[in-house]
Amino acid sequence: MSNLNPETKRETFSSGLAVFFATLGSAVGLGNIWKFPYLVGVNGGGAFILVYLICVVLVGMPVAISEFYIGRRTRSNPIQAFDKLKASPFWKIVGYLGVITSIFVMLFYSSVAGWVYLYTFKAIKGDFSGIANLPIKEAGEFVTREFDIVVGGALSPMLWQLIVVTIVSIIIYAGVKKGIEKVTKTLMPVLFILIIVCAIRALTLEGARQGIDFLFSVNFSAITPAVLLSALGLAFFKLSIGMGTMMTYASYFTSDNNMPATSAKVALSDVGVSMLAGLAVFPVVFTFGLEPGNGPGLLFNTIPLVFSRIPFGNILLIAFFFLASIAATTAMTSMFAVPVSVLTESLNMKKGKAVLLTGGVVFLIGILTVHPSSLLGNITILGKTFFDSFDYISSNLLMPIGGLLISIFVGYFVRKDDLVDELSNNGTLNNGSYLRLFRLLLKYITPILLVIIFLNSIGLLKL
Ligand code: PFF
Repeated sequence: MSNLNPETKRETFSSGLAVFFATLGSAVGLGNIWKFPYLVGVNGGGAFILVYLICVVLVGMPVAISEFYIGRRTRSNPIQAFDKLKASPFWKIVGYLGVITSIFVMLFYSSVAGWVYLYTFKAIKGDFSGIANLPIKEAGEFVTREFDIVVGGALSPMLWQLIVVTIVSIIIYAGVKKGIEKVTKTLMPVLFILIIVCAIRALTLEGARQGIDFLFSVNFSAITPAVLLSALGLAFFKLSIGMGTMMTYASYFTSDNNMPATSAKVALSDVGVSMLAGLAVFPVVFTFGLEPGNGPGLLFNTIPLVFSRIPFGNILLIAFFFLASIAATTAMTSMFAVPVSVLTESLNMKKGKAVLLTGGVVFLIGILTVHPSSLLGNITILGKTFFDSFDYISSNLLMPIGGLLISIFVGYFVRKDDLVDELSNNGTLNNGSYLRLFRLLLKYITPILLVIIFLNSIGLLKL
């Protein structure tokens, strides 16, 4: 009880640093080390990164700040928040969509997180220690084969998914301070250090030059509407926006937090981690003759190779996958918080029950659909498996729709004075020009870009 704020009867984080690490813990995750490198690989390198950065500034940050506004202003879950703001009931759709989207994302996310956990376990067992003695080409073939075995297993991917869901459930059950804050504050700095070590090692490999060229050469002809859409989807996914996650976390922010600054710091640190991941992965891809467009397996194929070529590599490999597991866990924790906050506050469910229900739904639907050996794992709808559909529908449709609604709501339906009041902490922050720019983007740029890209994605507009 002592953790509750006496005014709001809700828990809050204990400091600005805790807010930063928790929010960064949500942003940094598998997106940086798994999705970012493979999307860069599939979409032709540097040009994609450039478009992605533009999406982060013009769309990602304005939506993140809008979510922060709604969350902290109301200190409520994404459904009740709109009641507190005296908005028309229509806007509650943002909250309902958020719950659905977070479940969709958790379905495939917990499965990849399970692979990461399993790789940690395999590294501890020494399964990769033989790679050091293999010639480069055979080492590449070895890791590719290992990945296929891990993902295609009949039972173990499901078991590891269950472990992920259980750990996340425990963190959420432990609460904002004792769960989310404690875990993110301890582990995010260590992840940073490890990814830097890994990038430095990769940059001293033979193929480093080619990797860097691939990452930084900008070829505009590679930018098709489909590439634009996936850059936008990635910006949403990376910053954990458009599905109520940031809104939920912001409802626990300290009252004196400088939220526009938090959004910039988190976006910047997050891009930093993604670039480091790219620098760690692509030199290895070229050195070991792997395909840059290799897809989701890129992380799992390259990282064991990087560490196989350095002294004490196996210990570092264990540490890296362990920390990647933590990144995945802290990101997933933030998604899990959305349905739990809605179930406990809007439906008055006991926390334990809400956690069990959320975890149960994710795990049960997950084992039936997202693994290659699942009962429905190989069924395809419009050419996509369930795994790919959950990913595509959430990143490219649901999150941008959520983001569009949030930006229109905050841009057009919130009184300017209320907005400025909240985002300047009652005028105590001197950030007037920053807020003017934010409102300009939010009103005229962010929603228009979202509509154009969205209409294109559903085929109503040909770019
Ligand atoms: N931002 C996380 C990542 O990049 O891995 C994923 C994520 C977390 C997406 C939370 C959505 C979310 F609500």
